[in-house]
Amino acid sequence: MLRMDAPFGGWGASIMKKIIIAIDGYSSCGKSTMAKDLAKTIGYVYVDTGAMYRAVTYYAMQNGLFPEEGIKEAELKADIDAGKINISFKFNAETGRPDTYLNGVKVETEIRQMAVSTRVSPIAALPFVRALLTQQQQLMGKEKGIVMDGRDIGTAVFPDAELKIFVTASAEIRAQRRYDELKAKGEANLDFDAILKNVQERDYIDTHRETAPLRQAEDALVLDNSHMTIAEQKEWLISEYTRRVNS
Ligand code: DC
Repeated sequence: MLRMDAPFGGWGASIMKKIIIAIDGYSSCGKSTMAKDLAKTIGYVYVDTGAMYRAVTYYAMQNGLFPEEGIKEAELKADIDAGKINISFKFNAETGRPDTYLNGVKVETEIRQMAVSTRVSPIAALPFVRALLTQQQQLMGKEKGIVMDGRDIGTAVFPDAELKIFVTASAEIRAQRRYDELKAKGEANLDFDAILKNVQERDYIDTHRETAPLRQAEDALVLDNSHMTIAEQKEWLISEYTRRVNS
């Protein structure tokens, strides 16, 4: 059983070598929750790169660049080139998590809305959007001491990351987790089969896009958490982290 009596970062954040931890994997497999928790435990910075793709999507929606007919790519690219989209994170002491800001305005709640979730995949497939965000993510990791989660962190953003984890779980189990999560939020009329279909569709889009598709890096460790508890998962992560910083 893992015990965490001392604040992990305080055990020698200054003397322990700092590394980059890249966590990639399918949607709804608990990546963000585990990455956030790991970062907090070891005193690292946590970056949710999905939030950055969501923020660009929200920008496009707010600025009339994502009408029914599809994305106005040229206009979006022009805004990106003109430096009109600035994404940042600020730690929220109340929630213990970083909030996402778009051009100085907190958009943490807005970017989690269904309207954004259903539009983010095509935005995340645009090469010029990926180029911008990849560059910003690489800057964030310059000093190391970072846990970053997404789809292409170990393959495109930090191919040299010291610890790469590829998280997976069966589509049925992920759909069941989503179902339970939505039910707990009070959503009525939930249809398990529709949720499962959505999970499978997102898997397909994430793994089949041309630029930086979701795939397991050759040197990534696979974490199939289909039948793992949160505590077992954490113990596994901490032991892999400890092995890396001591090697
Ligand atoms: O993890 P999430 O569901 O918040 O991610 C939102 C979308 O962004 C999802 O369609 C996958 C995409 N994404 C990506 O393409 N690359 C990343 N590094 C992170 C997310």
